[in-house]
Amino acid sequence: MPRNERPIGIFDSGIGGLTVASAIRRTLPGERLLYFGDTAHFPYGEKSAEAIKHYAIRITSFLLDRGCKAIVIACNTASAHATGEVELTAGDQVPVFNVIDPIARHVAAHWKGRRIGVIGTKGTIGSRVYVRAIGRLAPSVKVRSLATPLLAPMIEEGFYKNAISRAVIRGYLENRNLAGIEALVLGCTHYPLIRKEVEEVAGERVAVLDPPTIVARHIEQQLTGLGLLHEADAPAGPDHFFLSDVSESFAKSAGRFFRHKLRVEELRLWEER
Ligand code: DGL
Repeated sequence: MPRNERPIGIFDSGIGGLTVASAIRRTLPGERLLYFGDTAHFPYGEKSAEAIKHYAIRITSFLLDRGCKAIVIACNTASAHATGEVELTAGDQVPVFNVIDPIARHVAAHWKGRRIGVIGTKGTIGSRVYVRAIGRLAPSVKVRSLATPLLAPMIEEGFYKNAISRAVIRGYLENRNLAGIEALVLGCTHYPLIRKEVEEVAGERVAVLDPPTIVARHIEQQLTGLGLLHEADAPAGPDHFFLSDVSESFAKSAGRFFRHKLRVEELRLWEER
């Protein structure tokens, strides 16, 4: 099979990476997707860096074995802790994309001298990866960050668009760390699912950025430069979705993103056989 017809491998701890996968599908309709949701280890945000590295290496090997032409770490926590390990595992031939660098570049290009907020898991915020990545490119940007650990489990459960989810979001956004921000980065790939609610609570003065679209455009540019883009109106083969532990909420959320019925398979990558 020509290299550009091979699938893009995408992984996350659960449904969050679907926000990135669906933006890739929208932006690059010719790309075939191979998705791995590590639901057995959800939430990544509470795990140690060592554990995340271990999971990410194993998943990357699986995606490479399946012939993926590129790897997308569609999880901020895994991007923060394991980008280097994923790159090493993938080697020189397969490009690796994380979800943090394209956002840091976007912020550096558009928000110089401004105050921006970042919300994400404890793992992502604790690593200070956004503060460092944005600080390197645009030291004049003031980055205020806040860990919002209740959000990803709430979203993974499908528990949002209700009074309690709005109260949780409000409780976080009213934290004084985020006072005076002009833009907000949703630094967890689950959060675009509650983007509307976040926008309502944040108010008109705060621009809520759209990371999946920014990431998908970056991937488009890079794949084009590498001659790896499959320029077509439809993929060369079916998408595949794997979970390390079947979850009903995955099927439900996946159905919202992809109009056709998804074939979701369970794959226990860590089980002794
Ligand atoms: N979607 C993952 C991220 O972007 C986090 C959810 C989790 O804690 O597993 O960080």
